Amino acid sequence: MNSPVMQGLNLQAPPQARNARLLAWVADMVALCKPDDIHWCDGSESEYQQFCERLVESGTFKRLNPALRPNSFLARSDPSDVARVEDRTFICSEHKADAGPTNHWVAPAVMRATLQPLFDGCMRGRTMYVVPFSMGPLGSPIAHIGVELSDSPYVAVNMKIMTRMGSAVLDVLGTDGDFVPCVHTVGAPLQPGQQDVAWPCNKTKYIVHYPESREIWSYGSGYGGNALLGKKCFALRIASTMGRAEAAQGSAGWLAEHMLILGVTSPAGKKYHMAAAFPSACGKTNFAMLIPPPALAGWTVSTIGDDIAWIKPGADGRLYAINPEAGYFGVAPGTNTLTNPNCMASLTHDAIFTNVALTDDGDVWWEGMGPAPEHCIDWQGREWTPAIARDQAEGGKPRAAAHPNARFTVAATNNPALDEAWDSPAGVPIDAFIFGGRRSTTVPLVTEARNWVEGVYAAATMGSETTAAAAGQQGVVRRDPFAMLPFMGYHMGDYFQHWLDLGARLQAGGAVLPRIFTTNWFRKGADGQFIWPGYGENMRVLQWMVERIEGRARGNEHVTGISPSYDEICWDGLDFSRAQFEQVMGTDAPSMQAELALHSELFHQLKDRLPTVLEETKTAMEGRLAAA
Ligand code: GTP
Ligand code: SPV
Ligand code: MN
Repeated sequence: MNSPVMQGLNLQAPPQARNARLLAWVADMVALCKPDDIHWCDGSESEYQQFCERLVESGTFKRLNPALRPNSFLARSDPSDVARVEDRTFICSEHKADAGPTNHWVAPAVMRATLQPLFDGCMRGRTMYVVPFSMGPLGSPIAHIGVELSDSPYVAVNMKIMTRMGSAVLDVLGTDGDFVPCVHTVGAPLQPGQQDVAWPCNKTKYIVHYPESREIWSYGSGYGGNALLGKKCFALRIASTMGRAEAAQGSAGWLAEHMLILGVTSPAGKKYHMAAAFPSACGKTNFAMLIPPPALAGWTVSTIGDDIAWIKPGADGRLYAINPEAGYFGVAPGTNTLTNPNCMASLTHDAIFTNVALTDDGDVWWEGMGPAPEHCIDWQGREWTPAIARDQAEGGKPRAAAHPNARFTVAATNNPALDEAWDSPAGVPIDAFIFGGRRSTTVPLVTEARNWVEGVYAAATMGSETTAAAAGQQGVVRRDPFAMLPFMGYHMGDYFQHWLDLGARLQAGGAVLPRIFTTNWFRKGADGQFIWPGYGENMRVLQWMVERIEGRARGNEHVTGISPSYDEICWDGLDFSRAQFEQVMGTDAPSMQAELALHSELFHQLKDRLPTVLEETKTAMEGRLAAA
């Protein structure tokens, strides 16, 4: 209580901070959170280095061997704070019905009353970092500004990589610009003289969104999407409500999607852009950085984004996508120089690793990177050897050295496959949407919807097995509409309608809509192994999509859409038999019926606001299945 900040509420604001609403809000939050100090982030390189040094001193960061991994760091989180917490994530709209049945809802007044005592004094003994950030290129008409107040320097350095962060944002904000206020605390105030821990957090967690007032309040976690509030909280949950609100005001509105964006250039030099929605830890980063196999070397893929897309209609009626982020917060386990060489190249310097293993020479390792080291320190700081891992097997698997949701943070500019237009304020025109779940059975490798409505149906009813990206049970099939289940800021049924309306409106204006495909790289054989080789070999599926767009592949029409015949896929340089192809493409009628029953369950859950055309689409599909 005796700190100078507390006594005089001296905000220590830099001259660029001229926005009256910002200054008033920071003052309010300082009064509430009671930090010992305030630091306004300028976003400079020297500030980043200074923060990293501070994190090393406090034990949160370990500097990796500069000869092997220059300017890179390892952080180990608290073992209880390793992933997004979906059951602690709330959409607090005025009316419960507006959050819809797929979101956790609490009345705003009730939530505010709950959070007030938690935030009161929550930053005692800590510094409040004021982090101004832009989602999207600075000053672009598509971009939106947020300001995160956080007591975590780990968050500040990650936000520097993941967003356009610093004083320049305050300049754009000016005196009366708009921003989304985001307040974050690890929820671990320090008593005078109390020693801090390497990863402060609280076992009580709240990830709270007020969509009407466009505020984000996050309590108790320092990890990923729980704490880097520009990402899922702003760029998906709040932005999705912003895009739809604009539609309600008479324009077409826009879309905030859990999608990678890539450019694909054919040997003939024609370039297309695809946006693909796969659920968390289902292959977006990998697909966005794909390197075609040697036999398809005439093709190139370049990355615009790996996780989030903001998509708006252009004056020409086409849909244009930007990546609002500036870096990648990607899954480490499974990444290696064979499956994703571009990613491995991105990680050679200036990277932050969280919850991977530390090798004896001061480098990092994770499961699936390559041969296991003879010894390392695991993500919890414990001794790890292959023998210890076997002796302490968990769930039939050796004890992992890296947490399955271990992640890297790295600037997009580190990516050798970065698309020249990745930073373009206008975005790139989308030729196709792809929706892909993780399904060991039933769902074919690739299917094209016959029209926009059937495409929206396919996206809406997508199922996927849960992954370590969220706390909770793994490997359970759940409906994950548009890969947005954990990221929707409003009623899922209204969201389906927004997609339908957007398509109808563009079509009425004479536009050719993007194609809609669904994919599944994850079918398994009787041996429990993936049948499809995946990764770079996914280029073969991408090639078929381009041939569909160019009108050169006929495909076979079936109950749910159009899929390639064996002969339509290029098999040069890959030994993949007709029988294997049948295994990744085929489904039987009983499986299809079981799948449709799951669609019915979802539709029943959403019945209050489910667009009738989707119910009709299902009825038509059931009819085709019965007739088949
Ligand atoms: P988020 O960052 O959580 O949104 O995940 P993401 O969708 O970007 O997933 P990412 O590309 O990081 O992949 C997650 C996991 O899936 C990694 O362990 C990959 O090795 C694995 N994976 C990615 N692509 C493929 C594929 O084509 N086939 C198989 N079998 N596994 C894949
Ligand atoms: C996801 O879970 O989809 C992620 C990681 O991209 S996080 O930023 O933690 O949400
Ligand atoms: Mn994601």
